[in-house]
Parts: sequence; structure tokens; C-alpha cells
Amino acid sequence: MHGMIMDMLKRFVVENYDEATWKQLQENAGLKNKVYFPVINYDDSETVQLVVTASEMTGIPVQNLLQVFGEYIAEDLIVMSKVLVRPEWKTLDLLENIETIFHGLVRDVWRVHPPVLDFVRTGENEITLNYASKRKMCSVAKGIVTGVGKYYGEQIGFREGSCMLRGASSCQIQFYVEGAQSVKPRATRSKSYA
Ligand code: HEM
Repeated sequence: MHGMIMDMLKRFVVENYDEATWKQLQENAGLKNKVYFPVINYDDSETVQLVVTASEMTGIPVQNLLQVFGEYIAEDLIVMSKVLVRPEWKTLDLLENIETIFHGLVRDVWRVHPPVLDFVRTGENEITLNYASKRKMCSVAKGIVTGVGKYYGEQIGFREGSCMLRGASSCQIQFYVEGAQSVKPRATRSKSYA
């Protein structure tokens, strides 16, 4: 995983607990004194080891931890990409552009491997994600989307369909803006996952 995300993981632990807890977590995970530079790629096994160990230390299930972490990093991701974010966008507009603009860019320029995020508008206030990644971190995606909604002052709900964690080849998740008035499906670009 890219060092920028690993660095955010460290900040997540230090802000929610403290520096000593991060050091203890690293030691328990067999990664004592490891430093994460935000310009280097690290082996995914280190991310997994840290999250599994954090789950053992706190009793919080791995998927819940990943989701809360995703929510935590959403604002930072938007702010660091601000130059590419159009001022008129809200949650669903940003999500619709993640793959082509943001993940596409980091894939080409940073030579990292973010997941393929196929977001398709399936209604005026709804968007469906088809997620595929060998890391199977759909919980991080759910958390980031929730965090993007918070950034824009919109409450985002979701319904889950297939999931890689249950053996499917990809995860399908419908996200919708809670309390939005119209849910009329769009005539164009709609896609059914029935
Ligand atoms: C807003 C919606 C976004 C979602 C739902 C999302 C989702 C994810 C997920 C789930 C991962 C974990 C790795 C995996 O599943 O394989 C990830 C990794 C990553 N994302 Fe995003 N992301 C979003 C926005 C962004 C933005 C705006 C950036 C801009 C810099 C970004 C950059 C990255 C990078 C650098 C990684 C690490 C990839 C690697 O180390 O190979 N993401 N993203």
C-alpha cells in the first residue's frame, strides 16, 4: 500500500489513541520502529498485519476498523486533490469521477495500484459501485464514501449486493443520498445489477 495511506493509518491511531499506542501496535504486529514515507510503496502484508493486530488489541472487527479508517481519510483525499475537484460538485459527482480522474491519475503517475472503482449513476440521488481489488477492502470504500458525504454535508446510506468477502468476483454497493427528494432513475448511463 502507498506510504501516503500508511501515514494516514498512523495518524488515525495517534489521533484516536496516542503515539504510545501506535508504537505498541507496531511492536505487536512485528513492525517495530518501521517508518512510513508518503512517497514509497509498502507491502500490503504490512497493512493487513497492522489492521488485524489493531482488531486483536481493541476487539473491534477488522471490517469495522477499515470502514472507520476510510471515513477518516476521505476529507484528506479530497483536500489533497482539490485542484481537480470542481466547486459545483457534491458527493455523487465526485464519486462519478474517481476512477477516471483520481485513481487513474495516481495509477499512472505514482505507479500504485488503487482499486478499480466503477461508479455508475443509477438514479438522480443514487450511484452504484462495482468494486474489484485483490485487497478486498470494500469496507474502506464504504467508509470513504460516507466521509465524502460528510464533507459535502450529505448523509449517505448504502445497500450491499454481492461482496468479494463472500466469494464474489466483485462487490456491488448502491449508495444513495438520504432524505433526497427525487429518486427518478436517469435515462442514460443507468446500469442494472439485478
Ligand atoms: C472518494 C472516493 C474514493 C474511494 C471510494 C476510494 C477507495 C479506495 C480504496 C478502497 C482503497 C484501498 C485499496 C484497495 O481497495 O485496493 C484506495 C486506495 C488508494 N486510493 Fe482511493 N478512493 C477514493 C478517492 C481517492 C482519491 C481522491 C485519491 C487521490 C489521491 C485516492 C488515492 C488512493 C491511493 C494512492 C491509494 C493506495 C493505492 C496503492 O497503494 O496501491 N483515492 N482507495
